[in-house]
Amino acid sequence: MPEFDAYARYYDLLYRDKEYEKEAAFVHDLLTTHAPAAGSLLELGCGTGRHAKLLAEYGYEVCGVDRSAEMLVAARQRHGGHPGLTFVAGDLRELSLQRSFDAVISLFHVMSYQTDNASLNAAFRTAADHLVPGGIFIFDCWYGPGVLTDPPVVRVKRLSDESIDLTRISEPDLHPQQNLVDINFEVLIKEKGGGCHTIQETHTIRYLFAPEVSLFAEQAGMVVERVCEWMTGGELPDQAWYACFVLRKSNADRSDDGLIPA
Ligand SMILES: C[S@@+](CC[C@H](N)C(=O)[O-])C[C@H]1O[C@@H](n2cnc3c(N)ncnc32)[C@H](O)[C@@H]1O
Repeated sequence: MPEFDAYARYYDLLYRDKEYEKEAAFVHDLLTTHAPAAGSLLELGCGTGRHAKLLAEYGYEVCGVDRSAEMLVAARQRHGGHPGLTFVAGDLRELSLQRSFDAVISLFHVMSYQTDNASLNAAFRTAADHLVPGGIFIFDCWYGPGVLTDPPVVRVKRLSDESIDLTRISEPDLHPQQNLVDINFEVLIKEKGGGCHTIQETHTIRYLFAPEVSLFAEQAGMVVERVCEWMTGGELPDQAWYACFVLRKSNADRSDDGLIPA
């Protein structure tokens, strides 16, 4: 079973305190700065569709793609029928929608879930292939210098809603030779009406470094236009765990030296 399928039922409870509104506002600001005319967005790894729905409320047409059937069920249940919003099933590494968007976005570490070079290459190519010339690709990811400066530790999260009490234990396993962290999740679910069960999932995350992002971008015909700290937009300190990249697809109307051909 792909990661997130068992987890999906509890995803919005687990992240109910995540600041989706502020994050959507941050992405809207980036779009306003770097692609002010953007009207159409492709979101790679949209999950339960919370950013997509908020960005649709800003007036963007948003197409969200995810490979987890269960995450898409939740997205469609919660936001299906919202104007300007569509959800499509697919693996972002093999996606071919046969249309272009003004911007591609990928939020909450989806690029870090592409753990090998081939997958990252394919993901960046998907973004470029679905962009208009000069369009931008915005994503956030785990940032290598921050993860190595302040390595992940065991965490316990406890949450409740009207029907369940949930405890999630996250045990990280760092693989510094591969730039990977296996996060072993154990989720204990106690039904308030009686009964309990456990879910175990390992999510492998790749922390990224700016030079390799430049390389993957170049290989896909894009350049890094901005790298900043996620959610502040400020300079990226070495200790930052979460980076945000803005890549721009080369403009076919321009020659390699950036000049518009005669
Ligand atoms: C941490 S969740 C983020 C979901 C959503 N962007 C959010 O902010 O809530 C990562 C999502 O990426 C999806 N994902 C990871 N790799 C993928 C791939 N290769 N193709 C499509 N979806 C993928 C997972 O199914 C999951 O829904």
